[in-house]
Amino acid sequence: MNDVHDLIGIGVGPFNLGLAALAEPLDDLDAVFLESRDQFEWHPGMVLEDATLQVPFMADLVTMADPTSRFSYLNFLKQVGRLYPFYIRESFYPLRSEFVEYGRWVVDQLDGVHFGRHVESVAHDGELYVVRARVGTETQTYRARRLVLGTGTTPYVPAVAAEHVAGAAPALHSSTYLDHKDDLLQREDVTIIGSGQSAAEIFLDLLTSGGPRVTWITRSPRFFPMEYTKLTLEMTSPEYTAYFQGLPEVTRETLLREQRGLYKGISGDLVDTIYDTLYRLRAQGKADARLLTATELTDLTWDGDAFSLRLRHTETGEAFGSGASAVVLSTGYRSVVPTFLDGVRDRIRWDERGRYDATADYQVGVEPGEVWVQNGEEHTHGFVAPDLGMGAFRNSVILGSMLGREVYPVETRIATQEFGTPSWARLREGAR
Ligand SMILES: Cc1cc2nc3c(=O)[nH]c(=O)nc-3n(C[C@H](O)[C@H](O)[C@H](O)COP(=O)(O)OP(=O)(O)OC[C@H]3O[C@@H](n4cnc5c(N)ncnc54)[C@H](O)[C@@H]3O)c2cc1C
Ligand SMILES: NC(=O)c1ccc[n+]([C@@H]2O[C@H](COP(=O)([O-])OP(=O)(O)OC[C@H]3O[C@@H](n4cnc5c(N)ncnc54)[C@H](OP(=O)(O)O)[C@@H]3O)[C@@H](O)[C@H]2O)c1
Repeated sequence: MNDVHDLIGIGVGPFNLGLAALAEPLDDLDAVFLESRDQFEWHPGMVLEDATLQVPFMADLVTMADPTSRFSYLNFLKQVGRLYPFYIRESFYPLRSEFVEYGRWVVDQLDGVHFGRHVESVAHDGELYVVRARVGTETQTYRARRLVLGTGTTPYVPAVAAEHVAGAAPALHSSTYLDHKDDLLQREDVTIIGSGQSAAEIFLDLLTSGGPRVTWITRSPRFFPMEYTKLTLEMTSPEYTAYFQGLPEVTRETLLREQRGLYKGISGDLVDTIYDTLYRLRAQGKADARLLTATELTDLTWDGDAFSLRLRHTETGEAFGSGASAVVLSTGYRSVVPTFLDGVRDRIRWDERGRYDATADYQVGVEPGEVWVQNGEEHTHGFVAPDLGMGAFRNSVILGSMLGREVYPVETRIATQEFGTPSWARLREGAR
């Protein structure tokens, strides 16, 4: 094995796995990828039986970069004998469980992707990055000229609930829902906090599993749907990302807050399914659910037997309370800088708030051509950063900037609309 690699990818979620698949045919790039988990997983606590991807199958690991790649989702279906059923099903949206199976199928065909390697530290010896990974009780050392950081996001738990999620009381983050589902079904009443896709999927799952009474609480003024209209989808285009990146930081922050409904919220279909299910259960006299909007969780206490929730209505200002025998915090994820970078902090570009300061081609190294980041650049590149549909595009850009040539053609303009001031509409000098 070559001891010095051209590239080490840290973390193997969909984004770095896509990079591994796109790098595989390249003779001039020796890449290794290190992943803590023992096999490819994709948010394992949320692979509910009937949950599907929220993006079409073309947002697989490679297609948008290279539709002829043998690592495409369609080739996976062909090889496992399910292409015709997928065709007849006529839905663009694979099951989340199928996507995991697809990822493992890709992994099986790649040499450089190593599981059970938890990266603990990164140093620089003056010439190379030195990456140390825990493998069981041992430490393995890898060296490379370049790094691609792909460690994803971290479950976020509000401070009022943090001690309970970390402790023995039955409070959990949605990312571990399936690990606790059997226990939740034995409980009398379960409260879900948050109204993103995770909360909605868990609400429906508990509702239809014949288990506890479910209380669903959001601080948002309504259970809002994720916007999925076509002109808005054009904002996932490379040119919108480039436009967004060129805006002042304060404008980007404002826009990101305003754009919540483009990537947060519940898919419209799921909202309808939930309503139809509630309708049916009510007609049958079986609905045991309570839904509260504009309601903030201000305190959470556990008396050894049950939770007490202190709540505040954000519109009326009234404080009130509720009880629960278990709480599911479906409160989303945050981008967190991994501590393994502590030893090379001086080699990374940071913004004033300690976040990665990514360049247009996703570089975060002080020295050009050394370090790239995937899915840690929402504040610079926009809401599309965690979108699977963006993965192949970003990997094309990363490979191009790494190798100094266009390995996979990169689209620069795909939208019908223009973002920012169009060049044809600029005022002529002297015009008012
Ligand atoms: C439940 C859920 C469903 C989603 N569904 C969709 C969807 O349908 N469509 C969509 O566009 N987006 C979806 N998303 C958004 C999400 O951003 C992407 O799906 C995707 O997971 C991002 O991939 P990633 O590679 O950045 O990170 P992740 O998938 O989080 O993978 C990061 C990997 O890095 C590993 N790692 C972390 N630290 C270390 C370390 N120190 N050493 C080694 N390995 C490490 C982790 O174990 C993990 O496997 C979903 C998100 C969630 C939470
Ligand atoms: N099937 C699928 O493909 C699937 C399944 C699950 C998730 N996903 C995707 O994964 C990503 C994450 O989804 P998610 O639902 O886990 O997270 P999310 O969309 O970020 O939603 C988090 C929810 O928690 C609320 N929240 C955050 N902090 C809070 C606090 N302190 N107190 C009370 N409420 C708080 C938020 O409220 P505010 O809105 O008021 O901030 C929001 O309702 C999304 O892109 C989603 O589309 C996809």
